[in-house]
Amino acid sequence: MTIAVGSDHAGVELKRDIISLLHDLQIKCIDYGTEGSESVDYPDYAEKVSEVISAGKIERGILICGTGIGMSIVANKFPGIRASLCNDLFTAKMSRLHNDANILVIGGRIVGKDLAKEIVKTWISTSFEGERHCMRLSKIKQIEDRIAKP
Ligand code: RB5
Repeated sequence: MTIAVGSDHAGVELKRDIISLLHDLQIKCIDYGTEGSESVDYPDYAEKVSEVISAGKIERGILICGTGIGMSIVANKFPGIRASLCNDLFTAKMSRLHNDANILVIGGRIVGKDLAKEIVKTWISTSFEGERHCMRLSKIKQIEDRIAKP
């Protein structure tokens, strides 16, 4: 599995910790920025990561901003993206089991480094449950198709 990662300035520190965790777990990741602590706009980084996942070029992504809200709003505008803001372990697990989330979003100003690492590990290692949830995901796809602009 390859994971695309991105953050704004409020999430850059936690992103570095997560990249180092992914490295330890021998999971390939591609960093779409930002690099430093200079103030940037989260939509630019959410777009970069969401685009490659929406296009099917990379399977999953992780986005981090201050609260996780901005990244979630942007990511969920892309077709096929199921971005889940998970600042706790239960949500991280359920977002995979029930929602087959393909982007994990974390609030870098909310979650500490150790919890964030556990959230990432849980999210990576939990599989989609399928069954009744498949129908619900296909309803999401139907809505997407219905409201898509020509
Ligand atoms: C940046 O100050 C902050 O607004 C951003 O990281 C995020 O929390 C937005 O939702």
